Amino acid sequence: MMENHTRALTTVVSYPERGQGGNNRYRGNCSPKLIEDLIAHFKPQEICDYMCGSNTTGDVARTMGIVSHTYDLHSGFDLLHSEIPERPEYIFWHPPYWDIIRYSDVMYRASEVQQRYGYDPRLFDLSRIPTWDGFVQAMNYCMMKQFCALERGGRMAVLVGDIKKKGKLFSMLFELAKPGVVENVIIKAQHNCVSDRRTYGGRFIPIVHEYVLLLRKETPLVIPFLMTYRVNSDIRDMPGATWRDIIADILEDCNGRAPLEEIYRRVEGHKRAQSQQWWKEKVRQTLQINPRTFEKADRGIWCLVKHA
Ligand SMILES: C[S@@+](CC[C@H](N)C(=O)[O-])C[C@H]1O[C@@H](n2cnc3c(N)ncnc32)[C@H](O)[C@@H]1O
Repeated sequence: MMENHTRALTTVVSYPERGQGGNNRYRGNCSPKLIEDLIAHFKPQEICDYMCGSNTTGDVARTMGIVSHTYDLHSGFDLLHSEIPERPEYIFWHPPYWDIIRYSDVMYRASEVQQRYGYDPRLFDLSRIPTWDGFVQAMNYCMMKQFCALERGGRMAVLVGDIKKKGKLFSMLFELAKPGVVENVIIKAQHNCVSDRRTYGGRFIPIVHEYVLLLRKETPLVIPFLMTYRVNSDIRDMPGATWRDIIADILEDCNGRAPLEEIYRRVEGHKRAQSQQWWKEKVRQTLQINPRTFEKADRGIWCLVKHA
């Protein structure tokens, strides 16, 4: 099948010319060349895609002479609720990049799906989930559902991107659950996206790449996996913070100025104070030996040194 495929898969890929297959008018479609390279490299007998969009995966599989099973919300399959019919050997998964491109009722009519398949796709469309946390939860449910369905030794290639909104990065790669063996992360250059045609001012750094995460299911039943949790830690309880860090943060939290008694009050009861019998002396010593960070204002009042 793949005799004339000569491109080797490396950890950075770039396909300035899209190639044949799928539909470049289906927004957020992916390059058929990526799927060609994955098939040529891993040589699966069959490939599955449960969010196939314009069916790039199916088209590439056909031209490369392998079997495909492809589905989408627009044609009667909802990965959140439908049962996966196969025991896949290889899954290519390209979920929506949260709400960057909306699919149901934008790329296809919700009313037509409702009429044909009996459900409103807007209710189950990952690109219509209003919050990032809700999206991450649904994405990870879909991730684990697909990984559970894989046969032993099976693989998933997951194409994801990062989203920047109001100065904050929403990273699908970071927050995606990573079951099984992480074999590789491939950086894929993005071409022909909206950001190519825009000019940006200020500090915004345009995102011009995506990632392909490669996973393998090595063991049945018990699956190791990596997950990201968001936690808030208080530096007064953290081993890595110095006394200077803690007191500087306390002063910042007090708008740059606080009486010594207030600094004591804000340290007391925290692990750092509990770990040291003479912690009040330590606070005073830290204030005195760091003149580039702290200065004394009036009696008993300490300030942060302002740097130009
Ligand atoms: C990024 S697009 C896939 C594009 C595709 N790789 C291509 O080249 O055309 C994501 C797809 O996920 C589908 N989708 C969103 N939520 C879904 C769900 N719950 N179940 C199945 N498909 C869903 C959307 O309809 C959309 O077609």
